[in-house]
Amino acid sequence: MALIPENTIQEVLGATDIVELIEGYFPLQRKGQDFWAVCPFHSEKSPSFKVSPSRQSYYCFGCNAKGSAIGFVMEYENLDYPSAIRRLAERVSITITQSEDDPLARAAAKQRAQLLELHSKAADWFHDYLMKGKEPDARNARNYLKGRGLNGDVANRWNIGFAPANGDVFAQWARENNYRGKLMAASGLMSLREETNPSRGLYSRFRDRVMFPLNNDFGETVAFSGRILDPNAKTAKYVNSPETELFSKSKIFFGLDKSKRAISKSQSVIICEGQLDMISCFESGIENVVAPLGTAFTDHHSRTLRRFAGERAEALLCFDSDDAGYKASIRAYRSLSSTGVFVRAVELPPGEDPDSLISTQGVSAFRQLIDNARPFYHFQIDHLNESLNINDPRDRVTFANELAPSISIIADPVAREAMINEVATRLGIAANDFRNRVANSVKEKQRLSTFTPGEQVTNFQHLTVEDVDVRILLRLALTDENTRCWMEETRRDALAQIQIMPCADLLTEVWQSPPESTKLNIINAYLTKFPPEKENAIRDVLIERFANLHLEDAQRALLRLRIKALEDTRDTTKTMATQPNLSKSQILDFTSKVESQRKELLDLKKSLKNIAISKA
Ligand code: CTP
Ligand code: MN
Repeated sequence: MALIPENTIQEVLGATDIVELIEGYFPLQRKGQDFWAVCPFHSEKSPSFKVSPSRQSYYCFGCNAKGSAIGFVMEYENLDYPSAIRRLAERVSITITQSEDDPLARAAAKQRAQLLELHSKAADWFHDYLMKGKEPDARNARNYLKGRGLNGDVANRWNIGFAPANGDVFAQWARENNYRGKLMAASGLMSLREETNPSRGLYSRFRDRVMFPLNNDFGETVAFSGRILDPNAKTAKYVNSPETELFSKSKIFFGLDKSKRAISKSQSVIICEGQLDMISCFESGIENVVAPLGTAFTDHHSRTLRRFAGERAEALLCFDSDDAGYKASIRAYRSLSSTGVFVRAVELPPGEDPDSLISTQGVSAFRQLIDNARPFYHFQIDHLNESLNINDPRDRVTFANELAPSISIIADPVAREAMINEVATRLGIAANDFRNRVANSVKEKQRLSTFTPGEQVTNFQHLTVEDVDVRILLRLALTDENTRCWMEETRRDALAQIQIMPCADLLTEVWQSPPESTKLNIINAYLTKFPPEKENAIRDVLIERFANLHLEDAQRALLRLRIKALEDTRDTTKTMATQPNLSKSQILDFTSKVESQRKELLDLKKSLKNIAISKA
């Protein structure tokens, strides 16, 4: 990462008033020259936290915490030094560019500022329409929310709004406020009627929906999620903003801007599926809650939570008790655990979510479930027990294979060993055999985690993408329009395939949300959404010298990656097959696995050859 120039730091500090900054987080009380509050860094009843405008610093007489504006942001937001400066710079609209006067970066920053303003204004407008609208649709929305137990105060606190049924009303508002069509389209609040024909005009994305502003953790609105009122409507229940320069669905948590204090304080976070769950919990006094939008939980999410919840972070998963909920919770568990977060499962009664539970049985019923939450792997054993038959040898293998990765993730060796014995006993297999499986999935995990560095803060300057095929894919994703489109089209399959590959972290992120186009300014804005160490790793790939690359090279690179990964898996299977003390059925199982992996490898190699021929 390029160093932030010293004069920029001075400029940022000069434009920042520490009193204003801290008041953005919590209220301060003026006494004479200084300002006071209850200290955010330790528990206390009476205020000993002093902010001094003349010195532009803070000091706590209780715990001796002290520092400047930068120190405060680092401490309070759990950020490293450069990130804290970036955060402060954003606040006072100072652009930090790598080379001092990069016009593209400056344009991107300007666009960002305009988008933020638009989102904030739009959120307020939707909110006013909900609260004061005389039209039938607004009244309808108020009734709907009342029916769900959300009164005006709640709507105020969360800035909940309503998008009129007639999309022209919002379009009219945008025109009156002189927001250009280009900006409206870039925000995702409106879309072109015809992609290739701007003269056909724009339409409003959100119509007849309750609007939940989605904020970044700084409290700035960066997107919206809109819920339909009519339970029988044929359209999607929720519509979200598309990916924009401000918003990436795989990174945001609904409500984190409100709950981050409680999360830091309790070192624990409750993860719900939806925004109404989040609101219900928070409003009933359970404040350490977040909601990813729907069920897709990413490593980025994990790291964010870890950042706020700290060293001893604990997460409580509150996912629906159906199959989709189970799958989602496994994914969240693996991601969180490998980030060092301890995970428990909150077991909801079938068909309930936290919101419905709280509204029908009260918050104490929900608290009870939270208190009873068990370590995730206990929950997983019982869950598997429901669908598998321990007496069937084939089921036992599935059982063991499902559990091994979950247990390999447990960092504490004593706890891990206890689990290994517990599971082996329950499965009626040799503890040694199961220990081997667990060890093998540790190896697998180490391979996978090459690029999810826990030590990213100290090491971030050195992140490089080692695998040339990954570099080729990244390079083409950002520079070649054909590849970019291909990536969008193949996203689903590809994500499943690359999950098991070395250094797939960065590639997965890019593949999950490729840039909207390969135009230079779009790419520049796109890159700023990555943490600096990743942004840099990608920039390295962008300036690397390659021979002319085309879509076919990307396709070949993906195939080569898949082949490498499969060869690894096959080798592991082979090793497993030669362990002593295997039962007949286990041996059969392994041999048939090796065989099917061999066939799959042949197919992949054939495809690789075919692409090579078609290009030559
Ligand atoms: N979601 C989404 N798009 C959809 C459906 C759901 O983004 N088409 C997300 C929303 O964030 C939603 C969450 O997934 O809150 C969980 O979905 P679901 O359980 O269906 O909805 P609830 O949160 O229970 O919402 P409600 O109580 O309003 O029915
Ligand atoms: Mn619900």
